[in-house]
Amino acid sequence: MGKLEWSDSLCVDESLIDEQHKTWIQKLNDVSVAIEAHQGPTRIAEALEFLNEYTSFHFSTEERYMAKYAYPDSAEHLKKHADLKKALADLELEYEEEGATHLLAQSIDFFAVNWLVNHITETDVKLGVYFRSKGIALTDKM
Ligand SMILES: [Fe+2]
Repeated sequence: MGKLEWSDSLCVDESLIDEQHKTWIQKLNDVSVAIEAHQGPTRIAEALEFLNEYTSFHFSTEERYMAKYAYPDSAEHLKKHADLKKALADLELEYEEEGATHLLAQSIDFFAVNWLVNHITETDVKLGVYFRSKGIALTDKM
């Protein structure tokens, strides 16, 4: 399973979002590592749960700022967050039903590239452009 590395191609030029994306990728990699290293069902379930929780936390940060600064494409962005949460919930379900199979490992790879990376490079990048164009710097304090 290829470990997903944060790189400049994932940079949205907004430091709070970039920092959260790094943690988000880390949480995803923790799930991959837990499966690859056969860390056992408790550890894998916990890693998936942490990924899920962090995803919600991260999305709510973006969503608060979109609302506060009247981001014009927020409806579309929120829909993508909902789709991504659904994809993640499906992963959890797959794990609960099938366990840590090779297929689950493949599903996580698929999630990494087709959901997480695509979301950052196609959707979050536009958010970064918008905030920069408005001279808005996000902080943790909101
Ligand atoms: Fe987003």
